[in-house]
Formats: sequence, C-alpha cells, structure tokens
Amino acid sequence: APKFNLHQLRLKHAREQPISMVTAYDYPSARIADGAGVDMLLVGDSVGMVVLGRKDTTEVTMDEMVHHCRAAATGTSRALLVGDLPFGSYLTAEDAARNGVRLVKEGRADAVKLEGGGRVVPQVRSLVDAGVAVMGHIGLTPQSYAALGGYRVQGRTGAEAARLFEDALALQAAGCFAIVLEMVPAEVAQRITSLLAIPTIGIGAGGGTSGQVQVFHDLLGLYDQKVPKFVRQFSKLEQPMRDALAQYVHAVDARAFPQPRHTFPISHEHLGDFCR
Ligand code: KIV
Ligand code: NA
Repeated sequence: APKFNLHQLRLKHAREQPISMVTAYDYPSARIADGAGVDMLLVGDSVGMVVLGRKDTTEVTMDEMVHHCRAAATGTSRALLVGDLPFGSYLTAEDAARNGVRLVKEGRADAVKLEGGGRVVPQVRSLVDAGVAVMGHIGLTPQSYAALGGYRVQGRTGAEAARLFEDALALQAAGCFAIVLEMVPAEVAQRITSLLAIPTIGIGAGGGTSGQVQVFHDLLGLYDQKVPKFVRQFSKLEQPMRDALAQYVHAVDARAFPQPRHTFPISHEHLGDFCR
C-alpha cells in the first residue's frame, strides 16, 4: 500500500472517513499494526508505563524516545509515524525545534506530538518553521496529570469546554495538522471537531472525532495495571503468551524440545575426528 502521508490524511478527513491510530514502540509492534492497516502509529511516551513499567510518563527521556521511535520506524512501511516529545523536552520554542528535529532525524519519525493548548503555540510555530509536522494533544494531558489533579475527564463545564475549543483553535492556527482530544465528553469533542478544519483524534472522547487512538497494550490485553474506561480489549493476549511460554518450560523440562528437526547434525566421519 502507498505511504499514508499528510496528503492522504487530509483526503481521508475530507471524505469524512474515520482515521485509525495506535501506539507502537518497537519493530514487532509497528510491523503488526502497520500490517493490520492502521493509518497512523504513535510512538507515545506511554512507552514509559506499558513497556518500561514506570508509574507515569514523566521520566521518559529524549534518548528513550529516539531509541523506540527508530525501532518502530524499522517496522513501519505504510503508516504515518508520529513520535511524542516527552515531558520537559519542549519548555522553550528552541528546545521544541531541536528535539523535534532529533525525533525526525535520529528517530525517523514523520511527525511529532506535544501536549498543551495556547501555552505551546510558540513551540508549535517553531517546529513548523523547522519543517516538522506537529500534532497537538489537549484535554487530559498525562505529562501534567499531577497539575491536573490526576487522570480525570477534562472540559466538563461550559467554561472548561470553551477553553478547550480556544486551545484547539490556537493549535490549528499555529500549524498543527491534527489534534488528539483525550478524556473529553463526547458532545464537547464532537462540537470541537465540527468547528475545526483539521482532524481530531480521540481517546476517551466518543465517536464524534475524526479518528481514534488507543494504546497497543490496552487493545491487546497486555497491560497488567488499571485499564481506563475508554479502552476496549479487542483481545486478551497475556494468557496465550503465558501458556505458550509455560509449554516451552514444560517441553525443556521433559526433554521434548528440541527435536532432531531443530538440530544441526554432523557426519560420522567428522564426528570421528572430534570424539576419539
Ligand atoms: O503516549 C500515548 O500513548 C498518547 C496517546 C494515548 C494519545 O499520547
Ligand atoms: Na503521550
């Protein structure tokens, strides 16, 4: 399939066809998601939680993002690959451009994502000026969950919803090609979507956004911590993975593995030289 680029994204959005996005953090997850036909892959800073086992995303470094992004890029052929700028990596417009360019250059990302509304407009402009495609992310922004008072729904009052809409407009005007809306009431997300020219990608924002994004390990039942309400587990892969590995342990234990077909032979003639 041809590469899903920003032009394809705009066409799909113009045709009002839903856009699919999922996180991927390495070669196998990217290869599997890309092969399944997902439009956009996100190397999310959620890597800190679902892959590195930390309690939140704040410790994720630029080096870690570059490392995972580069691995995911190797497994990606069709999807548009977006890399997250981690907490503290875009405090200034200069930081944003420098680190965004790094994610594109060293991490081989097609685009980057950062969290925040009006307050990150200078950072978005700086990235766009540097030639980096930028995705916004508003509503629940996990990098500032402590400041938000935990993982909670955003935009629940008229004033908060109006603020979200202003943030979305500011990001659009600054040059973002799309905006993630996380944990926003469905009606608010739908209304913001209908008033924007660029696509919205929702997570816990209902069915009225232009597309959906989910965390790979949540969709597949591979995360052992609390699963949010907005997740649907399309499979529960942890148990079959455990079962397969337990069978391996059993086969080794019983000397049932390896079999001759897994084994490299040597001719008797050569063996004679070795074992006299
Ligand atoms: O890091 C992440 O996984 C994300 C998505 C959930 C939007 O930012
Ligand atoms: Na993220």
